[in-house]
Amino acid sequence: MAEQVAVVILAAGQGTRMKSSLPKVLHRIGGRSLIAHVLDAASGLEPAQIVAVVRHERERVAAAILDHAPDTTIVDQDEIPGTGRAVEQALAALPSDFDGSVVVLSGDAPLIDTATLEGLVNGHLSEGRSMTLLSAVFDNPTGLGRILRDPSGSVLGIVEDKDADETQRRITEINGGIYVFARRALEAALAAIDTNNAQGEKYLTDAAARILSSGGAVDAVATDDPWTIAGVNDRAQLAEAGRELNARIVRAHQRAGVTIQDPATTWIDADVSIEPDVEVLPGTFLQGATSIASGAVVGPDTTLIDCEVGADARIRRSEATLAVFSAGVDVGPFAYIRPGTELGAGGKIGAFVETKNAQIGDGSKVPHLSYVGDATIGTGSNIGAGTIVANYDGVKKHQAVVGDGVRIGSKNVLISPVTIEDGTYTAAGTVVRKDVPAGSLALNVAPQRNIEGWVAENRPGTSTAEAAQRAAERKK
Ligand code: UD1
Ligand code: CA
Repeated sequence: MAEQVAVVILAAGQGTRMKSSLPKVLHRIGGRSLIAHVLDAASGLEPAQIVAVVRHERERVAAAILDHAPDTTIVDQDEIPGTGRAVEQALAALPSDFDGSVVVLSGDAPLIDTATLEGLVNGHLSEGRSMTLLSAVFDNPTGLGRILRDPSGSVLGIVEDKDADETQRRITEINGGIYVFARRALEAALAAIDTNNAQGEKYLTDAAARILSSGGAVDAVATDDPWTIAGVNDRAQLAEAGRELNARIVRAHQRAGVTIQDPATTWIDADVSIEPDVEVLPGTFLQGATSIASGAVVGPDTTLIDCEVGADARIRRSEATLAVFSAGVDVGPFAYIRPGTELGAGGKIGAFVETKNAQIGDGSKVPHLSYVGDATIGTGSNIGAGTIVANYDGVKKHQAVVGDGVRIGSKNVLISPVTIEDGTYTAAGTVVRKDVPAGSLALNVAPQRNIEGWVAENRPGTSTAEAAQRAAERKK
């Protein structure tokens, strides 16, 4: 259908009810702005052109649109208000010889999908109509345009809520705000529409009666899935749309072979990719461009932002951003993994460990209570509990290099820049200030001195002294 379809996306409105300094269509669900979801549904049609109409916060909205879909044509709406005016100005941006169908979408209705649009366009073309719109039957249609039909069911027009009389207000079939038009018929209709109505706006919806009166065919096709037309007007609706989108994303992954225990507490962004036989446990947030390979188990209570997770990895109760986990790694619980962390195959980042810009080789382990920042660790090395890489001298960040097969003792401080070569040991409590050559043991803790009888002399009568006394008696 590529060459005969153009898409117009309306995004000029103010979105007052969001009560936000952020333009409405830039609010996000599923990790993307509302308008990005609409752009994606539109580009799935492979249209000849997408035109977005902007006005309120035009710079920010236009920038976001072009960032997501650089080929979009941006059109500025003038001071004449209304959806009809917005579309009229969009049509002027199409090539004058474009004679095909024009799909009109709202930038604030993010759950529309390509398949629904394809169905709408196909029906529109096969029935030879000049206008086809998506409608829905709502128990509470308040605020929405109503579809007027004659007793035989033929569409007569659309009346806006604010312009409707008592009888019309009782109509439950509403205008979903998603349309297909024949370009020429729409252009002619818009030229004749005025702003003579309750809101003083040029209504796109008036095109229905106009097209009918000039002999064009118009129909409304009711959707059985009201979410496809759901508009976001306030933050409550934003959350509802976000929850519904998430439910759909979760279901799609489940159907593709991913085990997701608790859809209600699992939040997966639209761009996340998950292979079959991954298991996602409750309380997990998978965000951005995260990808997870087969056999991995993620969660519970884990957030991964732009991470790559290898096959059979295990990540629990942890947070990671821009990290690469190779196959079979073991992460958490309670790891805080910051950008630039790479954990090699079979490696481990354990409890209460923070990493940043750390390349940790295959089979290497940072199991307990550590900070590893700006460091490279080779393969098969172990970092003792409580070890800190002191990468910052108060002015600059420095790099630590730990080789292969290294055993860093517990509670070391590695003062960067420092290099600890392959096959070395460092003793517990070492403050490593100098490079350690391959094969050595590094130690710099002062020799221990035991002052016998110190407790009895200096802490008499304490529970410690009593314990010492009992020990002394046992030895007798
Ligand atoms: C519109 C329809 C209504 C339908 C409802 C479905 C009209 C006159 N009414 O009403 O029949 O039931 O959608 O959600 O079309 N916009 C512009 N320029 C403008 C005004 C609006 O670009 O001058 C954009 C808005 O940013 C929004 C979309 O058009 O994305 C719809 O506008 P909105 O004001 O929300 O229309 P509704 O009153 O909801
Ligand atoms: Ca609306």
